[in-house]
Amino acid sequence: MKPARIGLLGLGTVGGGTITVLSRNREEIARRAGREIRVVMASARDLKKKRGFDTTGIELVADPFAIVRHPDIDVVVELIGGQEPARQLILDAIAHGKHVVTANKHLIAVHGNEIFEAAQKKGVMVAFEAAVAGGIPIIKTIREGLTGNRIEWLAGIINGTSNFILTEMREKGADFADVLKEAQRLGYAEADPTFDIEGIDAAHKLTILAAIAFGIPLQFDKAYVEGISKVTGQDIAYAEELGYRLKLLGISRQTNGGVELRVHPTLIPHRRLIANVDGAMNAVLVKGDAVGPTMFYGAGAGAEPTASAVVADLVDVVRTLTTDPNNRVPHLAFQADRLVNLPVLPMEEVETSYYLRLHAQDKPGVLADVTRVLADLGISIEAILQKEPSLDERIVPIIILTHRVKEKHMNAAIARIEKLAAIHGPVARIRLEHLNPDWN
Ligand code: NDP
Ligand code: HSE
Repeated sequence: MKPARIGLLGLGTVGGGTITVLSRNREEIARRAGREIRVVMASARDLKKKRGFDTTGIELVADPFAIVRHPDIDVVVELIGGQEPARQLILDAIAHGKHVVTANKHLIAVHGNEIFEAAQKKGVMVAFEAAVAGGIPIIKTIREGLTGNRIEWLAGIINGTSNFILTEMREKGADFADVLKEAQRLGYAEADPTFDIEGIDAAHKLTILAAIAFGIPLQFDKAYVEGISKVTGQDIAYAEELGYRLKLLGISRQTNGGVELRVHPTLIPHRRLIANVDGAMNAVLVKGDAVGPTMFYGAGAGAEPTASAVVADLVDVVRTLTTDPNNRVPHLAFQADRLVNLPVLPMEEVETSYYLRLHAQDKPGVLADVTRVLADLGISIEAILQKEPSLDERIVPIIILTHRVKEKHMNAAIARIEKLAAIHGPVARIRLEHLNPDWN
C-alpha cells in the first residue's frame, strides 16, 4: 500500500520529537498502521535554524499554507501552537479534505467547537491526544476505554512545568524563577510560560477533558483559573507538616447543580498516589460509576513523550482513512448531536475544604474572634495550628484547616477576618481536596 503522506507544521520540540520517533520506529509503526507513515513536507519560520534531528528526505518550506493546500498531503500535523495562524491552517486543511493531528490544547479548548463542526461536515478527523497530559493516552482512555461508565469526576496534574516547579520548591527549596528557567530549557514550558504558571494551560486541558467526560461543549471561558505564581515555600512547608502536599490540580465534577471546572493550587493528603507525582510527570484520576477510581500516569511534556501521542493519533487516523466517517469515534466522545448544555458552576457555588494562613497578634482572644467568624458562617474547623513567631515577636502565623464549605461563605469569612484589628495582612487561602472516591 502507498505510504500515508504527512505534512508537518512546526519543527520545534514536538515537531522534532515526532520526526525522530517516526523514523526510529518506522517499521513497527508501519506494521501497526498497515502502511508506512512518511513525513514528506515540513514547515518552520526559520529554515536556516540548526535542528537536532534528521530532516533528510523532507521538503522544508517557510509557508505552512503551502502544506495544508498541497494535493499530495493526506494528513496535516499542526505543531506550531497558539491560536493564529494555527486555527486558520487547520480550517484550511479541513477545507482541503485533509485529516488533522494537533497537540494544540489552547486551540482546541478555545476554537474546538468550530473546528470539530467543520471537520464533521467535511468527514475528516481531527485528533488531539497530545493536547492533554503529553504522553498519557488519556483522551483515548476516556473516549473509548471508559465509554461504558458515567464519569463522576476527574482530577489531574496536567501541567508538567508547574508540577516541576512545585516539586523543586518542596524538595530543594529552589527559587521559583530559577526552576521556571530550567523548565524552559528542557522544552516543557509554553512559548509564553505565564500559560503554565497561571494555570491557563491546565485549564485548556481540563476544558477538553470535561467535554469528553461529560458530553458537554468546550467552554474554556467558564473555567475558574488560578495558577501557582503566588504559592510560597512557607505554605508548602506548613502543609507538609499537616500531612498534605501542594499540587496544581484541574478538577471537573458533575454535581446536581452543574459541572465544576476549576484549576487551582490544591492540598492533597500526602498518602494519595497522585500527591506523589513529581517533576514534569502528569497524572489524571478518573472516577467512573462502574470502574471506580482509576489513575493514569506518565510524562506530561517533552519532545518524545508528546511525540508518542502525536504518532498514536497518526496511526489511528491512517488506520481509519478508508472507514465510513459515521463509524469513527466522535471527536468529543459523544455523538455531535447528543452533547448537552449542563451549566458550569460559578466558583462561588463550589464546595471545598480550605487551608487558611493568617498572621495574628499573639494576645488572648484573637483566636476566639477568628473562630467566631468561621462559626457564624457555618464553617467547621478540622485542625488549627499556631506557629512560632517569625520576624516580629508579637505576630504569629496561624494555620486553619476547615471542612467543606461553599466558596462564597469562605470569601465572606476571609473578608471579615481580614477586618479584625488583631489580624495583620491578607489571609492566604489554599483549597484542599481529599480525593476520596465518593468525593466526601
Ligand atoms: P516550539 O516553540 O518548540 O515549536 C514551534 C514550531 O512552530 C517551531 O518550529 C516554529 O518555527 C514554528 N512556528 C512558530 N510560530 C509560527 C508561525 N507563526 N508560523 C509558522 N510556524 C511557526 O513548540 P513546541 O514544539 O513545544 O509545541 C508545539 C505544540 O505542542 C504547542 O501547541 C504546544 O502547546 C504543544 N505541546 C507541547 C508540549 C511540549 O512538551 N513542548 C507537550 C504537549 C503539547 P521555528 O522553529 O523556525 O521557530
Ligand atoms: N507546557 C506544557 C506543560 C506542555 O508544561 O505541561 C505539555 O502540554
